Amino acid sequence: MKQFSKLFFLLYVPLWLSCNAGKDKKEPETEDQTAVRLTTLEKYRPVYHFTPQENWINDPNGLVQFKGKYHLFYQYNPFGIQWGHMRWGHATSEDLIHWEHHPVALFEEQTEMIFSGSAVADLENTSGFCTGNEGCLVAIYTSHFPDEVQYQSLAFSNDEGITWTKFEGNPVLDIGMKDFRDPKVFWYDPGKKWVMVVSVPLEFKVQFYESANLKDWELTGEFGNQGNVSKIWECPDLIRLPVENAVEEKWVLIISSGSRYGDYTGMQYFTGNFDGEKFIPDERSDEPEWLDYGKDFYAAVTYNNLPDGINPVLVGWINNWRYANSIPTDPWRGMMSIPRELSLKRQGGKYRLIQKPVVSFYEYMVTKEKFEFSDHVIKENDLLLKDLSAGSFLLRVEFENRDADEFGIDVLKDENYKTRIGFRVSDHSLFVDREKSGAVDFHAAFASIETAPLSLQDQRLKLDILVDQSVVEVFASDGLRVITDQVFPISFQEGLQLYAIGGSAAVVSLEMYKLR
Ligand code: FRU
Repeated sequence: MKQFSKLFFLLYVPLWLSCNAGKDKKEPETEDQTAVRLTTLEKYRPVYHFTPQENWINDPNGLVQFKGKYHLFYQYNPFGIQWGHMRWGHATSEDLIHWEHHPVALFEEQTEMIFSGSAVADLENTSGFCTGNEGCLVAIYTSHFPDEVQYQSLAFSNDEGITWTKFEGNPVLDIGMKDFRDPKVFWYDPGKKWVMVVSVPLEFKVQFYESANLKDWELTGEFGNQGNVSKIWECPDLIRLPVENAVEEKWVLIISSGSRYGDYTGMQYFTGNFDGEKFIPDERSDEPEWLDYGKDFYAAVTYNNLPDGINPVLVGWINNWRYANSIPTDPWRGMMSIPRELSLKRQGGKYRLIQKPVVSFYEYMVTKEKFEFSDHVIKENDLLLKDLSAGSFLLRVEFENRDADEFGIDVLKDENYKTRIGFRVSDHSLFVDREKSGAVDFHAAFASIETAPLSLQDQRLKLDILVDQSVVEVFASDGLRVITDQVFPISFQEGLQLYAIGGSAAVVSLEMYKLR
């Protein structure tokens, strides 16, 4: 991959170059200066997370597997690194890790922007759009007319998603509302029909519709006004999930809306059942279940038409609307999460969402340079990891607390900056502290500490920590809690250090997979 060699070069870019990054220049740049500026800023580009080659992206759209390829469409502005002119960009992958970029799939036209939505593999040609006999792709998206209306439209592709034709009978679902968007359509096998879950954002609710042909839709139910209603509801998805160690299956409704951190965007989920027409929650609750306890995971939706035997796979946009337009990357802005395989676990009388990086991610990592340590008591100024500097890696670690108040690991570290991933015993919380992670002052709301409630198991804590230049995704206790945060190291900050405060803690095992 081209990005690897670039990364190698970037690691050795001198410190002073980074310090000049992003500063306004009065004189026109020389070619050398431009190269330096782009190179230093490109250091934020992740290696194994999806980013567009350039320009702005937000929500993942139209996630569908078709003929062995995983399609990733996404909200895209081809004109710059700010939100605007929305249309669907496109990439494909065979393993959900390595992506091939394709031309824009669905275009903005006159006053119509293409907002978020989904894509299905219409294998039986229920829509009548498919020309061959192997089915075709149909996209169901929101047509956005600023300050006027949002309605749902269709487009179809008979060349595996490369070119698209908008349906001449659009819209297929218009209820005359200014805010009505983000249709997720999936095949509901028990009823042999298509089901759409779509959001009425300002009413904090979603609606369910059914259709035999993707063109004619009928309302079957609604759900809303519970959980978190501090922000509008967007990008719903309704997912059938297996329950770990049980034969049971449950339904989960996920919503992008408010956050547990006040005036930020975030994601919540509800567990329950779907009877083909409406969603029935396990309980009515105003205490939301948060999907990710970081600040940077939003608008996530799952893949349609996955091969048999694979659990639903979720992809989210790594950013937060609060500061999304200000993050210091260039010439692109925005990335996607590692695709996450979902399931449920029954715990304390509730069904909890479990999220794990997809298996192909681990398969990819095992081919990397591996370091292993075990049975190490963490010392003050611990030096165990002193030779392992890295900016993109996977760290699988199990801690055992003895009598510490707090313990964990600092990553992306130098003498001045670090991102701390720790566990605080007093309030049983896992946290990511990015207050001193590097560049934080591009927006007043960025510097922060994110926490997730979590209990130690027999004094032990298992973490899978994914670090990739400007993102940290922490999966704790086999996917029970996740914290996803962006960070923007200022300088050559690739150190790692274990720490324990107020007593002792040990590392039972530690495996690190390092990319070079
Ligand atoms: C969520 C969202 C969607 C909308 C899209 C527009 O991030 O606001 O509701 O379709 O972004 O880009």
